[in-house]
Amino acid sequence: MNSSYFIETYGCQMNVADSELVEGLLQKQGYIQSESLESADVIFVNTCSVREHAEEKVHSQLGRYDLIKQKRPEVLIGVLGCMAQSLKHDILENKPYVDIVLGPDSYRRLPELLSRKQTIKQSQVDTTLSKFEVYDDLFPSRKEGINAWISIMRGCDKFCTFCIVPFTRGRERSRSVEGIITEVTQAVSEGFVEITLLGQNVNSYRHEGKEFHGLLESVAQIDGVKRIRYTSPHPQDITDPLLNVMGQYDNICNYIHLPLQAGSDTILKRMNRTYTKDHFMRLADKIRQKLPYVGISTDIIVGFPGETASDFAETIEVMNHVKFDSAFNFKYSPRRGTKASEYDDRVPEAEKQSRLVEVIELQKNHTLARNKSFVGHTESVLVEKESKRSKDQWAGRIDANKWVIFDKGLAQVKDIVPVEIIEAKGVTLHGKLINKAEAA
Ligand code: SAH
Ligand code: SF4
Ligand code: F3S
Repeated sequence: MNSSYFIETYGCQMNVADSELVEGLLQKQGYIQSESLESADVIFVNTCSVREHAEEKVHSQLGRYDLIKQKRPEVLIGVLGCMAQSLKHDILENKPYVDIVLGPDSYRRLPELLSRKQTIKQSQVDTTLSKFEVYDDLFPSRKEGINAWISIMRGCDKFCTFCIVPFTRGRERSRSVEGIITEVTQAVSEGFVEITLLGQNVNSYRHEGKEFHGLLESVAQIDGVKRIRYTSPHPQDITDPLLNVMGQYDNICNYIHLPLQAGSDTILKRMNRTYTKDHFMRLADKIRQKLPYVGISTDIIVGFPGETASDFAETIEVMNHVKFDSAFNFKYSPRRGTKASEYDDRVPEAEKQSRLVEVIELQKNHTLARNKSFVGHTESVLVEKESKRSKDQWAGRIDANKWVIFDKGLAQVKDIVPVEIIEAKGVTLHGKLINKAEAA
Protein backbone atom coordinates (compact mmCIF):
# COMPACT_ATOMS: atom_id res chain seq x y z
CA MET A 1 0.00 0.00 0.00
CA ASN A 2 1.17 3.53 -0.69
CA SER A 3 2.47 5.59 2.19
CA SER A 4 0.57 8.75 2.99
CA TYR A 5 1.74 12.26 3.90
CA PHE A 6 0.29 15.29 5.59
CA ILE A 7 1.78 18.80 5.33
CA GLU A 8 0.98 21.74 7.55
CA THR A 9 2.10 25.11 6.24
CA TYR A 10 2.89 28.27 8.21
CA GLY A 11 4.22 31.63 7.01
CA CYS A 12 3.94 33.45 3.72
CA GLN A 13 2.64 32.46 0.28
CA MET A 14 6.15 31.37 -0.69
CA ASN A 15 5.77 28.60 1.86
CA VAL A 16 2.38 27.67 0.46
CA ALA A 17 3.98 27.40 -2.99
CA ASP A 18 6.92 25.43 -1.59
CA SER A 19 4.58 22.97 0.11
CA GLU A 20 2.92 22.38 -3.27
CA LEU A 21 6.37 21.70 -4.70
CA VAL A 22 7.09 19.20 -1.93
CA GLU A 23 3.71 17.54 -2.55
CA GLY A 24 4.64 17.21 -6.22
CA LEU A 25 7.89 15.48 -5.24
CA LEU A 26 6.16 13.14 -2.80
CA GLN A 27 3.44 12.17 -5.28
CA LYS A 28 6.09 11.33 -7.87
CA GLN A 29 7.46 8.83 -5.34
CA GLY A 30 4.04 7.25 -4.97
CA TYR A 31 3.01 8.94 -1.71
CA ILE A 32 -0.63 9.87 -1.40
CA GLN A 33 -2.19 12.67 0.58
CA SER A 34 -3.51 11.58 3.97
CA GLU A 35 -7.04 12.44 5.08
CA SER A 36 -5.78 13.61 8.45
CA LEU A 37 -2.71 14.37 10.49
CA GLU A 38 -3.46 11.46 12.82
CA SER A 39 -3.52 8.84 10.08
CA ALA A 40 -0.49 10.01 8.03
CA ASP A 41 2.67 7.91 7.69
CA VAL A 42 4.82 11.00 7.20
CA ILE A 43 4.04 14.39 8.76
CA PHE A 44 5.70 17.56 7.53
CA VAL A 45 5.52 21.05 8.91
CA ASN A 46 6.64 23.89 6.66
CA THR A 47 7.80 26.57 9.07
CA CYS A 48 8.18 30.35 9.37
CA SER A 49 10.65 32.36 11.47
CA VAL A 50 9.59 35.89 10.64
CA ARG A 51 8.32 36.77 14.13
CA GLU A 52 8.58 35.00 17.46
CA HIS A 53 4.88 34.23 17.44
CA ALA A 54 5.24 32.31 14.15
CA GLU A 55 7.91 30.09 15.69
CA GLU A 56 5.90 29.54 18.86
CA LYS A 57 3.01 28.17 16.82
CA VAL A 58 5.34 25.66 15.14
CA HIS A 59 6.83 24.59 18.48
CA SER A 60 3.40 23.85 19.85
CA GLN A 61 2.51 21.86 16.73
CA LEU A 62 5.72 19.85 17.10
CA GLY A 63 4.57 18.99 20.62
CA ARG A 64 1.43 17.52 19.07
CA TYR A 65 3.43 15.46 16.58
CA ASP A 66 5.54 14.13 19.45
CA LEU A 67 2.38 12.73 21.05
CA ILE A 68 1.31 11.14 17.76
CA LYS A 69 4.71 9.53 17.45
CA GLN A 70 4.57 8.17 20.98
CA LYS A 71 1.42 6.31 19.94
CA ARG A 72 2.67 5.32 16.50
CA PRO A 73 6.51 5.16 16.56
CA GLU A 74 6.68 4.26 12.87
CA VAL A 75 5.46 7.75 11.84
CA LEU A 76 8.15 9.96 10.28
CA ILE A 77 8.27 13.66 11.16
CA GLY A 78 9.89 16.29 8.99
CA VAL A 79 10.56 19.97 9.61
CA LEU A 80 10.81 22.06 6.43
CA GLY A 81 11.29 25.71 5.58
CA CYS A 82 12.60 28.77 7.33
CA MET A 83 12.95 27.44 10.89
CA ALA A 84 14.84 24.39 9.69
CA GLN A 85 17.79 26.55 8.84
CA SER A 86 18.09 28.42 12.09
CA LEU A 87 16.86 25.81 14.55
CA LYS A 88 18.51 22.67 13.32
CA HIS A 89 20.66 22.31 16.43
CA ASP A 90 17.78 22.84 18.80
CA ILE A 91 15.68 20.37 16.84
CA LEU A 92 18.40 17.75 16.79
CA GLU A 93 19.31 18.14 20.46
CA ASN A 94 15.92 18.64 22.05
CA LYS A 95 13.44 17.06 19.69
CA PRO A 96 14.65 13.53 18.99
CA TYR A 97 11.28 12.64 17.46
CA VAL A 98 12.09 14.82 14.42
CA ASP A 99 13.42 12.55 11.65
CA ILE A 100 14.09 14.95 8.81
CA VAL A 101 15.13 18.61 8.72
CA LEU A 102 15.21 20.30 5.32
CA GLY A 103 15.84 23.95 4.53
CA PRO A 104 14.06 25.78 1.68
CA ASP A 105 16.75 25.05 -0.90
CA SER A 106 17.04 21.31 -0.20
CA TYR A 107 13.65 19.92 -1.20
CA ARG A 108 15.05 17.99 -4.15
CA ARG A 109 16.76 15.71 -1.63
CA LEU A 110 13.52 14.81 0.10
CA PRO A 111 12.89 11.47 -1.67
CA GLU A 112 16.49 10.40 -1.03
CA LEU A 113 16.43 11.37 2.65
CA LEU A 114 13.04 9.74 3.17
CA SER A 115 14.27 6.43 1.83
CA ARG A 116 17.54 6.72 3.74
CA LYS A 117 15.59 7.32 6.93
CA GLN A 118 13.82 3.97 6.45
CA THR A 119 17.14 2.20 7.01
CA ILE A 120 19.22 4.62 9.12
CA LYS A 121 18.11 5.58 12.60
CA GLN A 122 19.83 8.96 12.67
CA SER A 123 17.96 12.16 11.74
CA GLN A 124 18.51 13.32 8.19
CA VAL A 125 19.43 16.99 7.86
CA ASP A 126 20.13 19.32 4.97
CA THR A 127 19.85 23.05 5.47
CA THR A 128 22.37 24.18 2.89
CA LEU A 129 21.35 27.37 1.11
CA SER A 130 21.99 27.55 -2.61
CA LYS A 131 22.86 30.46 -4.86
CA PHE A 132 21.12 28.79 -7.78
CA GLU A 133 18.24 26.56 -6.77
CA VAL A 134 14.96 27.85 -8.23
CA TYR A 135 13.23 24.47 -8.81
CA ASP A 136 12.71 25.56 -12.40
CA ASP A 137 11.93 22.09 -13.70
CA LEU A 138 9.79 20.78 -10.83
CA PHE A 139 6.04 20.96 -11.04
CA PRO A 140 4.07 21.69 -7.92
CA SER A 141 0.95 19.70 -7.11
CA ARG A 142 -1.90 22.20 -6.83
CA LYS A 143 -5.34 21.67 -5.41
CA GLU A 144 -8.07 22.59 -7.84
CA GLY A 145 -9.04 26.20 -7.42
CA ILE A 146 -9.01 29.76 -8.61
CA ASN A 147 -5.47 30.93 -7.97
CA ALA A 148 -2.14 29.33 -8.85
CA TRP A 149 0.95 30.53 -7.00
CA ILE A 150 3.94 30.68 -9.33
CA SER A 151 7.25 31.29 -7.67
CA ILE A 152 9.50 33.39 -9.93
CA MET A 153 12.44 34.24 -7.69
CA ARG A 154 13.76 33.14 -4.33
CA GLY A 155 15.78 34.71 -1.55
CA CYS A 156 16.44 38.28 -0.56
CA ASP A 157 19.52 40.51 -0.69
CA LYS A 158 17.94 43.59 0.88
CA PHE A 159 18.92 42.84 4.49
CA CYS A 160 16.41 45.06 6.26
CA THR A 161 17.91 45.08 9.74
CA PHE A 162 14.83 43.61 11.45
CA CYS A 163 14.34 40.72 9.05
CA ILE A 164 15.44 37.10 9.25
CA VAL A 165 14.40 36.19 5.70
CA PRO A 166 17.80 36.84 4.03
CA PHE A 167 19.26 34.35 6.53
CA THR A 168 16.58 31.68 6.23
CA ARG A 169 16.14 31.93 2.48
CA GLY A 170 19.57 32.96 1.29
CA ARG A 171 20.62 34.94 -1.76
CA GLU A 172 18.35 36.34 -4.44
CA ARG A 173 18.01 34.33 -7.65
CA SER A 174 15.47 34.29 -10.46
CA ARG A 175 13.90 31.58 -12.54
CA SER A 176 14.08 31.44 -16.32
CA VAL A 177 11.35 33.20 -18.30
CA GLU A 178 10.66 29.97 -20.22
CA GLY A 179 10.26 27.96 -17.01
CA ILE A 180 7.77 30.50 -15.67
CA ILE A 181 5.80 30.71 -18.91
CA THR A 182 5.59 26.93 -19.18
CA GLU A 183 4.27 26.69 -15.64
CA VAL A 184 1.72 29.49 -16.14
CA THR A 185 0.52 27.88 -19.38
CA GLN A 186 0.12 24.56 -17.62
CA ALA A 187 -1.78 26.16 -14.71
CA VAL A 188 -4.16 27.84 -17.19
CA SER A 189 -4.77 24.53 -18.97
CA GLU A 190 -5.57 22.98 -15.58
CA GLY A 191 -8.31 25.57 -15.13
CA PHE A 192 -6.66 28.19 -12.91
CA VAL A 193 -7.89 31.67 -13.76
CA GLU A 194 -5.72 33.79 -11.48
CA ILE A 195 -1.94 33.68 -11.43
CA THR A 196 0.02 35.15 -8.54
CA LEU A 197 3.72 35.63 -9.20
CA LEU A 198 5.67 35.12 -6.00
CA GLY A 199 9.02 36.08 -4.60
CA GLN A 200 10.44 37.44 -1.34
CA ASN A 201 11.32 40.47 -3.43
CA VAL A 202 9.24 39.76 -6.45
CA ASN A 203 10.06 42.93 -8.35
CA SER A 204 13.82 42.43 -8.03
CA TYR A 205 13.28 39.66 -10.60
CA ARG A 206 16.02 39.67 -13.21
CA HIS A 207 16.95 36.86 -15.55
CA GLU A 208 19.29 37.25 -18.51
CA GLY A 209 18.50 40.95 -18.76
CA LYS A 210 14.73 40.56 -18.40
CA GLU A 211 13.38 42.65 -15.53
CA PHE A 212 10.18 42.23 -13.60
CA HIS A 213 8.02 44.50 -15.76
CA GLY A 214 9.11 42.57 -18.87
CA LEU A 215 8.26 39.26 -17.27
CA LEU A 216 4.90 40.59 -16.12
CA GLU A 217 4.11 41.71 -19.65
CA SER A 218 5.05 38.29 -21.07
CA VAL A 219 2.78 36.56 -18.55
CA ALA A 220 -0.07 38.98 -19.33
CA GLN A 221 0.15 37.98 -22.99
CA ILE A 222 -0.33 34.26 -22.33
CA ASP A 223 -3.70 33.08 -23.68
CA GLY A 224 -6.31 32.39 -21.04
CA VAL A 225 -4.68 34.22 -18.13
CA LYS A 226 -7.66 36.11 -16.76
CA ARG A 227 -5.95 37.74 -13.83
CA ILE A 228 -2.42 38.34 -12.58
CA ARG A 229 -1.28 39.47 -9.17
CA TYR A 230 2.19 39.56 -7.64
CA THR A 231 3.65 39.68 -4.17
CA SER A 232 5.69 40.86 -2.31
CA PRO A 233 7.34 43.83 -3.93
CA HIS A 234 9.80 46.28 -2.38
CA PRO A 235 8.98 49.98 -2.83
CA GLN A 236 12.50 50.61 -4.12
CA ASP A 237 11.84 48.53 -7.22
CA ILE A 238 8.41 49.89 -8.18
CA THR A 239 9.49 51.49 -11.45
CA ASP A 240 7.67 53.60 -14.05
CA PRO A 241 7.87 50.82 -16.65
CA LEU A 242 6.22 48.50 -14.12
CA LEU A 243 3.36 50.95 -13.52
CA ASN A 244 3.02 51.42 -17.29
CA VAL A 245 2.72 47.68 -17.92
CA MET A 246 0.16 47.44 -15.10
CA GLY A 247 -1.87 50.23 -16.68
CA GLN A 248 -1.67 48.73 -20.14
CA TYR A 249 -2.98 45.21 -19.47
CA ASP A 250 -6.50 44.64 -18.18
CA ASN A 251 -5.61 41.23 -16.80
CA ILE A 252 -2.94 42.66 -14.46
CA CYS A 253 -4.77 43.62 -11.29
CA ASN A 254 -4.72 47.18 -10.05
CA TYR A 255 -3.29 46.25 -6.72
CA ILE A 256 0.09 46.85 -5.11
CA HIS A 257 1.38 45.73 -1.75
CA LEU A 258 3.65 48.58 -0.71
CA PRO A 259 5.29 47.80 2.62
CA LEU A 260 5.96 51.05 4.49
CA GLN A 261 7.33 49.54 7.75
CA ALA A 262 7.87 52.98 9.34
CA GLY A 263 7.35 56.67 8.57
CA SER A 264 10.35 58.42 10.06
CA ASP A 265 13.53 58.76 8.03
CA THR A 266 15.65 58.00 11.09
CA ILE A 267 13.89 54.67 11.61
CA LEU A 268 13.76 53.84 7.89
CA LYS A 269 17.48 54.37 7.71
CA ARG A 270 18.06 52.23 10.78
CA MET A 271 15.88 49.56 9.20
CA ASN A 272 17.94 49.80 6.00
CA ARG A 273 14.77 50.28 3.97
CA THR A 274 16.57 52.38 1.27
CA TYR A 275 13.75 54.93 0.76
CA THR A 276 12.70 58.05 2.62
CA LYS A 277 9.29 59.05 3.90
CA ASP A 278 9.02 61.66 1.17
CA HIS A 279 9.97 59.22 -1.58
CA PHE A 280 7.41 56.72 -0.30
CA MET A 281 4.58 59.26 -0.21
CA ARG A 282 5.40 60.50 -3.71
CA LEU A 283 5.51 56.93 -4.96
CA ALA A 284 2.08 56.20 -3.48
CA ASP A 285 0.69 59.42 -5.04
CA LYS A 286 2.09 58.39 -8.41
CA ILE A 287 0.56 54.92 -8.15
CA ARG A 288 -2.87 56.36 -7.32
CA GLN A 289 -2.58 58.83 -10.16
CA LYS A 290 -1.43 56.34 -12.80
CA LEU A 291 -3.73 53.50 -11.81
CA PRO A 292 -7.26 54.68 -11.03
CA TYR A 293 -9.15 52.59 -8.45
CA VAL A 294 -5.93 50.90 -7.42
CA GLY A 295 -5.71 49.10 -4.09
CA ILE A 296 -2.60 49.75 -2.01
CA SER A 297 -1.90 47.61 1.03
CA THR A 298 1.05 47.82 3.38
CA ASP A 299 3.02 46.28 6.25
CA ILE A 300 3.80 48.38 9.31
CA ILE A 301 6.13 47.59 12.20
CA VAL A 302 5.62 49.51 15.44
CA GLY A 303 8.16 49.72 18.25
CA PHE A 304 11.33 49.20 16.24
CA PRO A 305 14.34 49.91 18.54
CA GLY A 306 14.80 53.63 19.05
CA GLU A 307 11.33 54.54 17.71
CA THR A 308 10.32 57.64 19.69
CA ALA A 309 6.82 59.06 19.99
CA SER A 310 7.65 61.57 17.30
CA ASP A 311 9.06 58.89 14.98
CA PHE A 312 5.85 56.97 15.45
CA ALA A 313 3.81 60.12 14.72
CA GLU A 314 5.46 60.13 11.29
CA THR A 315 4.17 56.61 10.61
CA ILE A 316 0.70 57.93 11.40
CA GLU A 317 1.34 60.92 9.15
CA VAL A 318 2.23 58.68 6.18
CA MET A 319 -0.82 56.52 6.85
CA ASN A 320 -3.01 59.63 6.83
CA HIS A 321 -1.42 60.81 3.62
CA VAL A 322 -1.60 57.54 1.65
CA LYS A 323 -4.78 56.09 3.19
CA PHE A 324 -3.86 52.47 2.57
CA ASP A 325 -6.67 50.17 1.50
CA SER A 326 -5.49 47.64 4.06
CA ALA A 327 -2.52 47.03 6.33
CA PHE A 328 -0.78 44.19 8.12
CA ASN A 329 0.48 45.65 11.38
CA PHE A 330 3.12 44.06 13.57
CA LYS A 331 4.94 44.73 16.83
CA TYR A 332 8.67 44.58 16.30
CA SER A 333 9.98 41.15 17.26
CA PRO A 334 13.77 40.77 17.68
CA ARG A 335 15.18 37.98 15.48
CA ARG A 336 18.46 36.24 16.27
CA GLY A 337 21.31 37.05 13.92
CA THR A 338 19.74 40.25 12.57
CA LYS A 339 21.42 43.60 13.01
CA ALA A 340 18.46 45.19 14.79
CA SER A 341 18.49 42.48 17.46
CA GLU A 342 21.76 44.02 18.67
CA TYR A 343 20.21 47.47 19.20
CA ASP A 344 19.65 47.96 22.91
CA ASP A 345 17.28 50.95 22.83
CA ARG A 346 14.23 48.73 22.80
CA VAL A 347 10.72 50.12 23.04
CA PRO A 348 8.82 48.82 26.12
CA GLU A 349 6.16 46.20 25.39
CA ALA A 350 3.29 48.36 26.70
CA GLU A 351 4.31 51.16 24.36
CA LYS A 352 4.51 48.78 21.40
CA GLN A 353 1.07 47.49 22.25
CA SER A 354 -0.52 50.94 22.44
CA ARG A 355 1.09 51.96 19.14
CA LEU A 356 -0.22 48.78 17.55
CA VAL A 357 -3.75 49.50 18.76
CA GLU A 358 -3.48 53.02 17.37
CA VAL A 359 -2.43 51.92 13.85
CA ILE A 360 -5.09 49.19 13.78
CA GLU A 361 -7.81 51.70 14.71
CA LEU A 362 -6.64 54.26 12.20
CA GLN A 363 -6.40 51.64 9.47
CA LYS A 364 -10.00 50.56 10.10
CA ASN A 365 -11.13 54.11 9.33
CA HIS A 366 -8.96 54.31 6.23
CA THR A 367 -10.16 50.95 4.91
CA LEU A 368 -13.76 52.05 5.28
CA ALA A 369 -13.10 55.44 3.68
CA ARG A 370 -11.26 53.86 0.75
CA ASN A 371 -13.99 51.25 0.32
CA LYS A 372 -16.63 53.98 0.29
CA SER A 373 -14.77 55.70 -2.53
CA PHE A 374 -15.59 52.66 -4.71
CA VAL A 375 -19.35 53.03 -4.22
CA GLY A 376 -21.08 53.86 -7.51
CA HIS A 377 -18.18 52.48 -9.55
CA THR A 378 -18.48 49.34 -11.65
CA GLU A 379 -15.69 46.85 -11.03
CA SER A 380 -14.76 43.64 -12.77
CA VAL A 381 -15.08 40.85 -10.24
CA LEU A 382 -13.72 37.33 -10.31
CA VAL A 383 -16.38 35.05 -8.84
CA GLU A 384 -14.58 32.90 -6.27
CA LYS A 385 -17.02 31.23 -3.89
CA GLU A 386 -20.41 31.26 -2.25
CA SER A 387 -20.85 33.98 0.33
CA LYS A 388 -20.67 32.70 3.91
CA ARG A 389 -23.86 34.54 4.73
CA SER A 390 -26.17 33.33 1.98
CA LYS A 391 -26.28 30.59 -0.60
CA ASP A 392 -27.94 33.02 -3.00
CA GLN A 393 -24.87 35.27 -3.09
CA TRP A 394 -21.37 35.07 -4.48
CA ALA A 395 -18.18 36.42 -2.98
CA GLY A 396 -15.47 37.61 -5.33
CA ARG A 397 -12.61 40.04 -5.44
CA ILE A 398 -12.38 43.24 -7.40
CA ASP A 399 -9.15 44.18 -9.12
CA ALA A 400 -8.02 46.15 -6.08
CA ASN A 401 -8.16 42.94 -4.00
CA LYS A 402 -11.28 43.80 -1.99
CA TRP A 403 -14.05 41.28 -1.40
CA VAL A 404 -17.50 42.06 -2.72
CA ILE A 405 -20.75 40.18 -2.05
CA PHE A 406 -23.56 40.18 -4.61
CA ASP A 407 -26.65 38.20 -5.70
CA LYS A 408 -25.67 35.26 -7.88
CA GLY A 409 -27.78 35.96 -10.98
CA LEU A 410 -26.43 33.91 -13.86
CA ALA A 411 -22.77 34.29 -12.87
CA GLN A 412 -20.68 31.17 -12.24
CA VAL A 413 -17.53 30.54 -10.21
CA LYS A 414 -14.41 31.56 -12.21
CA ASP A 415 -16.37 34.08 -14.33
CA ILE A 416 -15.21 37.67 -14.45
CA VAL A 417 -18.33 39.82 -14.25
CA PRO A 418 -19.14 43.54 -13.95
CA VAL A 419 -20.46 44.45 -10.51
CA GLU A 420 -21.61 47.88 -9.43
CA ILE A 421 -20.46 48.65 -5.90
CA ILE A 422 -23.45 49.84 -3.92
CA GLU A 423 -22.33 49.81 -0.31
CA ALA A 424 -19.21 49.59 1.86
CA LYS A 425 -19.64 47.99 5.30
CA GLY A 426 -16.72 47.09 7.56
CA VAL A 427 -14.07 45.56 5.34
CA THR A 428 -16.51 44.18 2.75
CA LEU A 429 -18.19 45.70 -0.26
CA HIS A 430 -21.69 44.90 -1.41
CA GLY A 431 -22.57 45.11 -5.07
CA LYS A 432 -25.03 44.42 -7.82
CA LEU A 433 -24.28 42.21 -10.80
CA ILE A 434 -24.72 44.16 -14.01
CA ASN A 435 -26.10 41.85 -16.64
CA LYS A 436 -24.36 41.77 -19.97
CA ALA A 437 -27.02 43.75 -21.85
CA GLU A 438 -26.84 46.59 -19.32
CA ALA A 439 -23.04 46.55 -19.32
CA ALA A 440 -22.79 46.72 -23.10
N1 SAH B 1 9.76 40.59 1.52
C1 SAH B 1 8.64 41.16 2.07
C2 SAH B 1 8.35 40.87 3.52
C3 SAH B 1 8.52 39.59 4.12
S1 SAH B 1 8.17 39.56 5.82
C4 SAH B 1 8.80 42.65 1.98
O1 SAH B 1 9.88 43.19 2.00
O2 SAH B 1 7.76 43.26 1.96
C5 SAH B 1 6.55 40.26 5.93
C6 SAH B 1 6.46 41.39 6.88
O3 SAH B 1 6.75 40.94 8.19
C7 SAH B 1 7.44 42.52 6.66
O4 SAH B 1 7.01 43.38 5.65
C8 SAH B 1 7.48 43.18 8.00
O5 SAH B 1 6.47 44.14 8.13
C9 SAH B 1 7.17 42.04 8.96
N2 SAH B 1 8.37 41.67 9.72
C10 SAH B 1 9.51 41.13 9.23
N3 SAH B 1 10.40 40.97 10.24
C11 SAH B 1 9.79 41.41 11.37
C12 SAH B 1 10.19 41.50 12.73
N4 SAH B 1 11.40 41.13 13.12
N5 SAH B 1 9.30 42.00 13.62
C13 SAH B 1 8.07 42.39 13.23
N6 SAH B 1 7.65 42.33 11.97
C14 SAH B 1 8.49 41.84 11.04
FE1 SF4 C 1 12.93 40.99 4.75
FE2 SF4 C 1 13.49 43.37 3.80
FE3 SF4 C 1 14.01 41.20 2.35
FE4 SF4 C 1 11.49 41.96 2.76
S1 SF4 C 1 13.04 43.13 1.66
S2 SF4 C 1 12.32 39.89 2.94
S3 SF4 C 1 11.57 42.77 4.81
S4 SF4 C 1 14.99 41.79 4.26
FE1 F3S D 1 8.22 33.24 7.12
FE2 F3S D 1 10.12 32.31 5.64
FE3 F3S D 1 8.01 33.42 4.53
S1 F3S D 1 10.39 33.38 7.52
S2 F3S D 1 7.40 34.94 6.03
S3 F3S D 1 8.00 31.60 5.70
S4 F3S D 1 10.09 33.55 3.82
